[in-house]
Amino acid sequence: MRELIVDSFAGGGGASTGIEMALGRSPDIAINHDATALAMHEVNHPGTLHLTEDVWNVDPYAATGGRPVGLAWFSPDCKHFSKAKGGKPVSKNIRGLAWVVVHWANTVKPRVIILENVEEFQTWGPAAPEELNDFHKRAFTVLGIVGGGIYNAPFSWDSVYWAPNAIGVSWFKSLATYDFRDLTRFVLLCHEARIRGEISSLAPQYLRIMLHQRGVEGGMARRHPNLEEALAEWRAEFPADHPLVYRDPIAESAQ
Ligand SMILES: C[S@@+](CC[C@H](N)C(=O)[O-])C[C@H]1O[C@@H](n2cnc3c(N)ncnc32)[C@H](O)[C@@H]1O
Repeated sequence: MRELIVDSFAGGGGASTGIEMALGRSPDIAINHDATALAMHEVNHPGTLHLTEDVWNVDPYAATGGRPVGLAWFSPDCKHFSKAKGGKPVSKNIRGLAWVVVHWANTVKPRVIILENVEEFQTWGPAAPEELNDFHKRAFTVLGIVGGGIYNAPFSWDSVYWAPNAIGVSWFKSLATYDFRDLTRFVLLCHEARIRGEISSLAPQYLRIMLHQRGVEGGMARRHPNLEEALAEWRAEFPADHPLVYRDPIAESAQ
């Protein structure tokens, strides 16, 4: 049985024309909720079945009639997150369109799926909140101090991971104790701000910094020692006579 080609979010027909050039035939099914876009598509691809529907209202089984799908192409709207528009994505509905791909994958299992979008798509995550909560303010204050000013700090706002009680950034600079002290500052500030700071490797020259909200007291999951408590714990573990603890040689020899 001949496999179907489906073009979802089929606009004027650029994608379908590309498919036709590559595979030698137009898609069998084109979906777009915008009748004007599909009318233009129909001019270019008159043999295609045009479904003027919201992608979420199309039942993949019913649309394909149970025939195998060889290629499912998706070009979800990207105008709320493109270089041209700039800034951060704003519409959750538009940002969520690409999830329809998972629906098709789960239902009719196309042999090949292509999802076309702007490169920023790779960094889509939860949208930035309308207003920063208290935790966010403390977290960005920490990053601002460590990074030499929040607008100077070495991370991109486009790739910030946002959650109510966590943020993550891709930090493109090393962190050290001596002589620049940015790692020391990071640790000390996280303690003071009741934040669990986590640094992991992300890519060459990139660190992933995650900041998680912690409570002041309570069980293991909430407890977060402030700086004095952290130092007290450290001194209990490494008392003054521990070989690693620094002693001023001049003061020692004078004793
Ligand atoms: C980036 S354009 C696709 C361009 C197309 N691939 C082409 O080559 O012309 C995205 C299209 O998705 C359509 N669209 C947006 N939301 C939709 C939805 N919920 N259901 C169906 N189509 C939608 C828009 O009308 C728009 O034409």
